[in-house]
Amino acid sequence: MFKLIEDYSKEQMDKLGLYGWPHVQRVLQLCVKLVKLEKCDVDMEVLKAAALLHDVAKHLEKNNPQIDHGVVGAEIAEAFLRKIGFPEPKVLAVCHAIKVHTHSEEPTSTEAMILHDADFLDKLGATGIATIFIKACLTNKTIEEILKNFYKENQEAYAFQHIKWIKIKQPHFYTKTARTIAKRRNKIVSKFFNQLKREIKLEDLKTSKQ
Ligand SMILES: [Fe+2]
Ligand SMILES: [Fe+2]
Repeated sequence: MFKLIEDYSKEQMDKLGLYGWPHVQRVLQLCVKLVKLEKCDVDMEVLKAAALLHDVAKHLEKNNPQIDHGVVGAEIAEAFLRKIGFPEPKVLAVCHAIKVHTHSEEPTSTEAMILHDADFLDKLGATGIATIFIKACLTNKTIEEILKNFYKENQEAYAFQHIKWIKIKQPHFYTKTARTIAKRRNKIVSKFFNQLKREIKLEDLKTSKQ
C-alpha cells in the first residue's frame, strides 16, 4: 500500500524538478521524529500517507497560482486513496491534514498539526537556504538576484516566495518541539545572507590594515 502511495507521490513531485521528491521525503522523516519527540498519539498510517501526498497538487499551483495546493491536493488524494483501497475510515483524516497544511483552515487533528509543523520546518534553516538556491536554478535566477530579493519586502516569484517564508521571525507552530527546532534553524539564515552580501561586495577581502 505505502509503495503505491510513494510511487504516486514521487511521480507528482518530480514534476517540480529537483526540489519536489526530496522535500516530501524530509517532511515524512520529520513527521516521524516530531511524533516521537512530542510523545503524541497519532495514527501513523494517516500521518505517513498525508506526508507523502501533501504536495501532490503543488505543480498545478506553480502554473496556476490562484489554486490552493492544499485544497486541490486533498481532492486528488481522496480519489487516489479510494482507488487503491486505502482504509476508508482513514481517507478523510488524510485529506484533512493535506487540506489545512496551507492554512486554508485550522487543523483539527494531531496528524494535521504534525504535518503542518514538519512541512514548515523544512522551509527553514540551512535546508531552506539550499532550497532557495535550487528554486533559483530552476527559474534562472542568479545569486545576486536572490541576494537583492532577500532584503526586499515583497517577494513573489517562485524562488523569492521561499525567501518570504524563511524570513518570518516567529513562524506559527502547533508543537513546542517544532518551535524549538525552528529557533535553532533560523539562526543561520541572517548570518548566511550577511556573509553572502559581504562576499559579493568583496567586503570580506578587507583586512584591519586597509
Ligand atoms: Fe505544501
Ligand atoms: Fe510541502
